[in-house]
Amino acid sequence: MADLLTKLAYQTMQTGKGLLGLVHKEASTRLMGLVAPEGAPNTVPVPPELFKELKRSMDQLHALDLEEAERGLYPPSLLFDAPWLDWAARYPLVWLDTPRTWSRRQERNVRDLPRDVETDAFPDYYLQNFHHQTDGYLSDTSASLYDLQVEILFNGTADPMRRRVIAPLLQGLGSFSDRPASQIRVLDLATGTGRTLMQLRGALPQAQLVGLDLSKAYLRQANRWLAEVPGELPQLVQGNAEATPFADASVQAVTCVFLLHELPPEARQNVLNEAFRLLEPGGVFVLADSVQLADSPQFEVAMENFRRAFHEPYYPDYIRDDINARLTTAGFEAVSAASHYMTRVWQGRKPR
Ligand SMILES: C[S@@+](CC[C@H](N)C(=O)[O-])C[C@H]1O[C@@H](n2cnc3c(N)ncnc32)[C@H](O)[C@@H]1O
Repeated sequence: MADLLTKLAYQTMQTGKGLLGLVHKEASTRLMGLVAPEGAPNTVPVPPELFKELKRSMDQLHALDLEEAERGLYPPSLLFDAPWLDWAARYPLVWLDTPRTWSRRQERNVRDLPRDVETDAFPDYYLQNFHHQTDGYLSDTSASLYDLQVEILFNGTADPMRRRVIAPLLQGLGSFSDRPASQIRVLDLATGTGRTLMQLRGALPQAQLVGLDLSKAYLRQANRWLAEVPGELPQLVQGNAEATPFADASVQAVTCVFLLHELPPEARQNVLNEAFRLLEPGGVFVLADSVQLADSPQFEVAMENFRRAFHEPYYPDYIRDDINARLTTAGFEAVSAASHYMTRVWQGRKPR
């Protein structure tokens, strides 16, 4: 009975989130077409079969999310941890920010960043308005809107997609099962506002969690979210995932979610090499990012529209990149991957 109620509540919540995403996108695209037609994204028409396929794949994601919670991989409470009141308060701010986003898109202005940013402190590829986002990743305003914007973009599936790193992570950590849980250290590269760390804390209540990101503002937001989660506060460190300040072999697991598609190819390889360096032999790397053309050709139009609607300069290269080959080049063994809706999850082990 309890399981049935959980299932019903979960499905109702996901349907609500999905509707918010669909209605918001439809309204903003139409409005933009009226107010700034030349700046409206020139997207490819979506064939009806693709909608059906997306829905089917999304339903599979939700079924797996529930199933893994029921199997005890993470607490079912994680399924419902969306900060609804907070989002309701922020939603008008998303709309208020929209005209600025539109005008940047119209003017093809992708380097519109806060004036006080120390540009020398960041790699050049980072100093852009990814998704045409106001201030890029470099302000508290951007950090405060990011999670809601991502939920809108993915129709409420962002956290269910992030949770797909948990099963391979727990499986990979099995090789350290003789260690006390409190001596397991997991590093989340490009942690952003910490949503992945929130999921990991649910699955690994005793582990030492560390998050690294280039954006101080996003780390401040991560600190706010994570302070609400029971358990020890994860350590948050500002730094570049290509060259972190941590020692060789200092962690048993590394995760990295939704970073790779925003990096040029060389930086992508650097991040995978860095994950390998940081892992203790036997440690596991779990990587999640957008699906690619090779594994999900049925979603080609969706991938094309993502590139057209948002500023994602490295995405066309990313969706053609051979990540298995890159992981092997970095030194990983037992590399495998699986797709969940719009996310592909890779895992690899550092040889003993
Ligand atoms: C699309 S967001 C993903 C954030 C988070 N992992 C999530 O699931 O929401 C990309 C994040 O990568 C960070 N980032 C980009 N390049 C980076 C780099 N070279 N090193 C560390 N963080 C980086 C950005 O600041 C941003 O927080």
